[in-house]
Amino acid sequence: MGLKIKDVKSLNTGEQVDNTYFEKILDTSDEWIRTRTGIKSRYFTEELPSEMAAELGKLLEFDRDQVKMIIVTSFSNDLIMPSIAGKVHKELDLPSGCFSMDLNAACAGFVASMVLDEKYLEEGQEALLIASEKISSCLDFTDRGTVILFGDGCAGMVVKKNSKLWVSDESTYGDEDSLLLKKGEFIKMRGQEVFRFACSKVPESIEKVITKSGLPLEDIDYVVAHQANVRILDQVAKRTGIAGDKFLKNIEDHGNTSAASVPTLVSDYKDRFKDGDKVVFSAFGAGLVVNSILMEW
Ligand code: ACO
Repeated sequence: MGLKIKDVKSLNTGEQVDNTYFEKILDTSDEWIRTRTGIKSRYFTEELPSEMAAELGKLLEFDRDQVKMIIVTSFSNDLIMPSIAGKVHKELDLPSGCFSMDLNAACAGFVASMVLDEKYLEEGQEALLIASEKISSCLDFTDRGTVILFGDGCAGMVVKKNSKLWVSDESTYGDEDSLLLKKGEFIKMRGQEVFRFACSKVPESIEKVITKSGLPLEDIDYVVAHQANVRILDQVAKRTGIAGDKFLKNIEDHGNTSAASVPTLVSDYKDRFKDGDKVVFSAFGAGLVVNSILMEW
């Protein structure tokens, strides 16, 4: 059993900020940022994650009688109680039988919400999955090793349970130091450790789902991977043996938007996918975790 992506949309989040902005406030350069990360610009917004999620929810096209779940993923959540999902539920006036919750698995949150939905929904039922991040509010603008990587974003999908191919891998490696955000503080990151983790564990997770599916490597049409650093994407392509041009990319314009990265990427490339395509999703993040899915479009 699998999921059909019935609708996908992203919001235009705020002001586009290019690397030259950081040249003015930090000892860094556009050249360093582009060559070390692949990022040219990112968006910073004034809107709160809960406001963006509600705005996006109103744009998504779903069947009100079939919607059984709404999950909002965010680590930069402005609303602890009620959940953002509760707010979206209210603003969309969804039926009381629609299960709603927020989920935080940092950058891996959106793929985690897809995994959960596939297990929860019954054939024909639908769910709303929204990722909403205002990471700019969690950044130390004096920390050049971190601030240049992230951007704000909000994107989401309507998914519907179907009977197509679906295999997943959910791996957690228990860690509390390499990526840390405490209440009232800014993100602290050991960039090199996270980089090494991603380059070794993301390929392993992708290989697991391909092996479980029994498909040959050449049958993979696209890889929708978390946009954290273009050098990580290149390493993952090299280590898995999947052609680099099958890895979709928008990191150049958005930076790392955490949970919003995967649905924003799908939204940017939505006209590319066609029925029957075999698509790998993979996202890693604080925890440290990696979640991957191989599905038929
Ligand atoms: N501009 C100029 N120089 C810089 C900058 C900058 N913005 N940032 C760091 N440097 C310097 C360092 O101080 C260091 O200088 P030194 O040699 O004099 O000490 C030098 O550049 C090299 O630093 P490294 O940390 O080794 O640089 P690296 O090539 O590893 O790149 C980066 C750093 C971009 C952070 C990389 O490690 C990375 O992308 N890591 C993964 C991060 C990531 O994916 N995080 C998101 C995870 S998902 C989630 O859950 C949030």
